[in-house]
Amino acid sequence: MTLTPDWQLLHSTAIAASKKAYAPYSNFPVGVAGLVNDGRIISGCNVENASYGLGLCAECSMTSELVMSGGGRLVAVLCVDAQGDYLAPCGRCRQLLFEHGGNELLLMTPDGPMKMSTILPWAFGPDDLDRK
Ligand code: THU
Repeated sequence: MTLTPDWQLLHSTAIAASKKAYAPYSNFPVGVAGLVNDGRIISGCNVENASYGLGLCAECSMTSELVMSGGGRLVAVLCVDAQGDYLAPCGRCRQLLFEHGGNELLLMTPDGPMKMSTILPWAFGPDDLDRK
């Protein structure tokens, strides 16, 4: 199924998710929303911990929802900060997103949607494990 992302809907969904963030240590709430290839919209927020290094990024939370709600491939993702401005996913989260969307996944940036192959070039992924 080919889907055209509704970026406005992804933006409002990511903002709504950011309002649920548990970020008492950084005071830096993050929200993220994603379009799945079956049309589903999923979202996530960051969830921090008193043991600081254990905090979960919003993309981790969204990835869990992806799998728990039936899996599928990510088509488009949009991440925001507390102002609702587009936020760059951290390196670890780019890897998480790559696993479920691959090189064609679109990420919204201030310069417009960009492919994961641009955001995370020459990514390590499931295919590499097949080359044993
Ligand atoms: N954060 C995310 O949730 N996603 C990112 O891609 C970047 C950083 C969170 C982690 C932490 O709770 C807060 O932002 C400040 O780093």
